[in-house]
Amino acid sequence: MKRNLFIPVLAVLLAGAFPGCKPPPGKEMKIGLITPLSGDVKTFGESVKNAFEIAVEEANAKGGVVGMKIATFIVDDRNDPTEASNAANLLINQHGVKAIVGSVTSKTTIPVSDLAQRYRIPTITGTATNPKVTVADGKRKDYMFRSCYTDSFQGTVMAKFSRDTLQAATTAILYDASNDYSKGIAEVFRDSFARMGGEVVAYESYGKDDVDFSALLTKVKVAKPDVLFLPDYYNKVGLIAKQAKEKELKAKLVGPDGWDSPELVKVAGEAIEGGYFSNHYSPEDTRPEVVNWVKKYREKFGQTPDSLGTLVYDATNMLLEAIREADSDDPGKIRDALASLKGFEGVTGKFTMDENGDPIKSAVIIQIRDGKQKFLQVVNP
Ligand code: PHE
Repeated sequence: MKRNLFIPVLAVLLAGAFPGCKPPPGKEMKIGLITPLSGDVKTFGESVKNAFEIAVEEANAKGGVVGMKIATFIVDDRNDPTEASNAANLLINQHGVKAIVGSVTSKTTIPVSDLAQRYRIPTITGTATNPKVTVADGKRKDYMFRSCYTDSFQGTVMAKFSRDTLQAATTAILYDASNDYSKGIAEVFRDSFARMGGEVVAYESYGKDDVDFSALLTKVKVAKPDVLFLPDYYNKVGLIAKQAKEKELKAKLVGPDGWDSPELVKVAGEAIEGGYFSNHYSPEDTRPEVVNWVKKYREKFGQTPDSLGTLVYDATNMLLEAIREADSDDPGKIRDALASLKGFEGVTGKFTMDENGDPIKSAVIIQIRDGKQKFLQVVNP
């Protein structure tokens, strides 16, 4: 009798001592989200928060992960790099999160990635496309992952589209020199367009707070480009497009994922009509994963999910799958499981991350027609 009692007691003690065994009742899996809920890209932040919440609610409805309920901590970084660093510090050092989803834009995610690396907290961004998010000075930040393609791919895709499909011989490029994303993708587009035999007739930058682009647009008008590439977020792009139309510029407008917001058409009106941009998914896709996701999101939020929300739904599910694989809330083990995820089936496609934590996946090209986003084509890597 006495000996039999000893065995269950030992089992309980061992379970507490070794992570990966059954967690004590009431223990929570703490996950942080960093997202811009205010500031210049507020629509990005809101859809990201919505999508994150759907993924967590779905997991919690099934009992959480590895026997723990998921507790979330959501912090607004206002799309400001310093705020993003503060948010990461708060999540890691005050709230004690074991993993982070975020941030959203590249300029805020780069500082977050450095802290994730310093404190060894596995972090996955759904949306930050700049190469420096996962690799700096040739060195892999091995706690950092993403569920989106990078700007090296996206910039090349749009240069090829401009050359081959739009038959553009010349391009002008206007970019924000203070924004890692804008500057990075401007360089990729410029180099690719030239390598493909096109000519870059104007390459000009502006600052973060600029609102009057008339001097730059005069230069562009004189250069008479076939295409004007605008690598920035929807508010800036909207303003530039409007002023370009006032100046009667004839160039076709082309851009990257940063255009993806219902606000773009509200800011630019007619001026953005006919413009083309690269994106990560189309709600018009008939794959069942996409149809289910769009339905679920619409029912809950009354809107069609944008690419940002969709990518973050995938990123959050990738993280949860890695936690299940690790069978632990230990950050190091979660990192290892993330690094070895293969053939993840997300809404934005089925993909595997390369040795840098960057997925290899396709892009879609969207055209703005009648003020709406219309799916045009898929481009495979
Ligand atoms: N790729 C952008 C960045 O890195 C963010 C973004 C993703 C914007 C998807 C729109 C759609 O800053």
